[in-house]
Amino acid sequence: MREKIKNLKIGVLAGGSSAEREISLKTGKAVEDSLAGMGYNVIKFDLDENFFDELKKIDICFNALHGTFGEDGKVQGVLELLKIPYTGSDVEASAIAMDKIKSKIIFKYYGLDVPDFFSVKKGETKEQIKNKMQNLPFPYFIKPNAQGSSVGASIAYSVSELYSALEDAFQYDDEVIVEEYIAGREIQFAVFSGKPVGCVEIKPNDSFYSYSAKYTKGKTQYILEPDLTEEEYQACEYASVSAHASLGCRGVTRTDIILSDSGKANVLEINTLPGLTEFSLVPMIAQKKGIKFGALIEDIIEDALT
Ligand SMILES: Nc1ncnc2c1ncn2[C@@H]1O[C@H](COP(=O)(O)OP(=O)(O)OP(=O)(O)O)[C@@H](O)[C@H]1O
Ligand SMILES: [Mg+2]
Repeated sequence: MREKIKNLKIGVLAGGSSAEREISLKTGKAVEDSLAGMGYNVIKFDLDENFFDELKKIDICFNALHGTFGEDGKVQGVLELLKIPYTGSDVEASAIAMDKIKSKIIFKYYGLDVPDFFSVKKGETKEQIKNKMQNLPFPYFIKPNAQGSSVGASIAYSVSELYSALEDAFQYDDEVIVEEYIAGREIQFAVFSGKPVGCVEIKPNDSFYSYSAKYTKGKTQYILEPDLTEEEYQACEYASVSAHASLGCRGVTRTDIILSDSGKANVLEINTLPGLTEFSLVPMIAQKKGIKFGALIEDIIEDALT
């Protein structure tokens, strides 16, 4: 048991009302079980009517939420106001990271490679959309601006596919991002406290790393020692550490990258509250580096107190 946190009442906040509620509950349970197993004083609570009462009982909040309200700076704002320390990034970094358009603009400003894109707001006419398409050749990758878990995401090879993809994505957000489709290898890279941890290569048994590829056992192959050249590894490491730093992230983040055949590490997004079930990618990467799940959770809590 770590001295610094052993007398604290640790509140694990999980669930919430986002499309990723079920995943958050799994992250929350894994964190709670691990902390309880190590003998810490832990309680689990949700973003429900008891939320404010529960906050009065805790010394630190382990944020196990994903998506809207939990990962976008809103809950972080409440915790700041109440002066309760919490895990993960602050209000500003969380809000920007959740917004794929704004974060891509910042990544680009810092010289990182990002897919070309345009965005479409709900209610825009076909004429307006056609104008934006002029500068971006097919195929496209379409996704809601502020979602996770590949909800509402799809590939389009034609105008009619683009329209139906937009319709689908608009179910989850009023703003949708249309990116150039990048062919290549998918690498996800974990950064902790500004330092690189390691990566995993994702080989989904689908045309992309879709919701079902993410959460159905056996649908994706995870390669923890990907066959990357020194240059390729460095490119992914540099992109992830820079993406983390460019938004001023804290704690653990996971940057999703497509490494194109030319060796470019295209940053898709940064996740400020990556999944932390024992089968999630960050714990898998940490484990490979000799950091056990429990130690990772303790590290994250200690980092939130510094
Ligand atoms: N421009 C692109 N070109 C090719 N594939 C893409 C592109 N953008 C996204 N993808 C595919 O879609 C997946 C989901 O995209 P992204 O990571 O941007 O969104 P997400 O839904 O927020 O994911 P997460 O669950 O990691 O939060 C990626 O892992 C990748 O497989
Ligand atoms: Mg992603």
